[in-house]
Amino acid sequence: MTLMDNIGSLAKRRGFIYPGSEIYGGIAGFWDYGPLGVELKNNIKREWWKSMVYARDDVVGLDAAIVMNPEVWEASGHMSSFTDPLVECKACHKRFRSDKPELLAAHEKEHKEKVEWTEPKIFNLLTEVLLGVTEPKMTAYLRGEITQGVFVNFRNVVDSSRVKVPFGVAQIGKAFRNEITPGNFTFRSREFEQMELEYFVRPDEKNASEVFEYWKQARMAWYLSLGMNKTKLRFREHEPEERAHYAKKAWDIEYEAPFGWSEFEGIHHRGDWDLSRHKLVYTDPETNEGYTPWVIETSGGVDRATLFFLIDAYVQEEKRIVLKLHSRLAPVKAAVFPLVSNKPDIVKKAREVYTLLKKHFVASWDDRGNIGKRYLSQDEIGTPWCLTIDYDTLGSDTVTVRDRDTTSQTRVNISQLQSYIQEKLGGTI
Ligand code: GAP
Repeated sequence: MTLMDNIGSLAKRRGFIYPGSEIYGGIAGFWDYGPLGVELKNNIKREWWKSMVYARDDVVGLDAAIVMNPEVWEASGHMSSFTDPLVECKACHKRFRSDKPELLAAHEKEHKEKVEWTEPKIFNLLTEVLLGVTEPKMTAYLRGEITQGVFVNFRNVVDSSRVKVPFGVAQIGKAFRNEITPGNFTFRSREFEQMELEYFVRPDEKNASEVFEYWKQARMAWYLSLGMNKTKLRFREHEPEERAHYAKKAWDIEYEAPFGWSEFEGIHHRGDWDLSRHKLVYTDPETNEGYTPWVIETSGGVDRATLFFLIDAYVQEEKRIVLKLHSRLAPVKAAVFPLVSNKPDIVKKAREVYTLLKKHFVASWDDRGNIGKRYLSQDEIGTPWCLTIDYDTLGSDTVTVRDRDTTSQTRVNISQLQSYIQEKLGGTI
């Protein structure tokens, strides 16, 4: 089994990620998040929102609609430029991106004879939706990036909040791309979530470069602060021919996945591309000067971050599999165990502890099998603390707290449990 097989199997077995519509044979490029997966993904999004919006005075949030007036996509350049080159195998009619030689080579190996390919065709990645009740229905698009919702609301945000350039608008939401070759588990999906910041600055190259560098470093620091292994992360600058149609400059943050170095966040200098295409200007409230701000963007994939946090945390030790997720990302913060399940006093006390903790953290209860098995089960889903209520608890009001990473145990008074965990999580959750 490869690491990706192990991650896929753990994700399915323990309820992190399931193939979409599985009982009907699945659907390529769509995934569902199970009970633990939704917690992990929400924790990532919450941490992002806290650092990008709540911790700052210069960023506000937004949640724009997924379907927009189709003219948005004409103006943004996505109708003409949001494309991949597609080729078809003449023997089996399977389609591939012609700019991915590794995929073509893998397909060629599957066929015994030499493969003949069609000429590359330009394929637009926007996903069409048909709206309305009368024919012909209106063709609209599921957004290919969440970004345009920020630009079309630029004036609304400026007029309705107290932001002044430089300022940013942060957004998290679903995007859709009709990817030709979805693959590598959730890495390339057709439906995925993005977490983005559009930061508006004065049109000045020196200033824009400084802001660009600031966000580049800030975004890398965020992944490191949540425990990602530094040696698995790197920056990579886009070659001019790789850049998206809107980008003057682009750097990726990449993770060394089992399938190679892979982008999971982009920092883009979009210049005045978007605002000028939407014919939007800004008036400085102090000088009355009108100009088109430039945009520095940080665009991360929630699903890719979730996948890479999972891969990064996966540790196979001699006797156990541990997900060493940062405690703030762990889906369950504490698991509560009565040492035995047939002593009513112990079970009652354990229930009290469980009820108390559930008011503050995601906690889980386990009274099956022996303590060793319960530890293994929690290690595999990354629960940082396991609390055992035993005979001593009845006299001392203390419980055993076992640490996931060190497996060391310490006794903590029940009245101190909340602050003990809170402190280890680094304040509020
Ligand atoms: N607004 C800019 C933008 O959308 P992008 O580089 O095309 O830039 C940003 O996408 C991020 O969105 C990527 O770094 C990746 O994390 C995520 N993403 C893009 N396509 C994806 C796909 N097919 N499946 C999963 N995530 C994807």
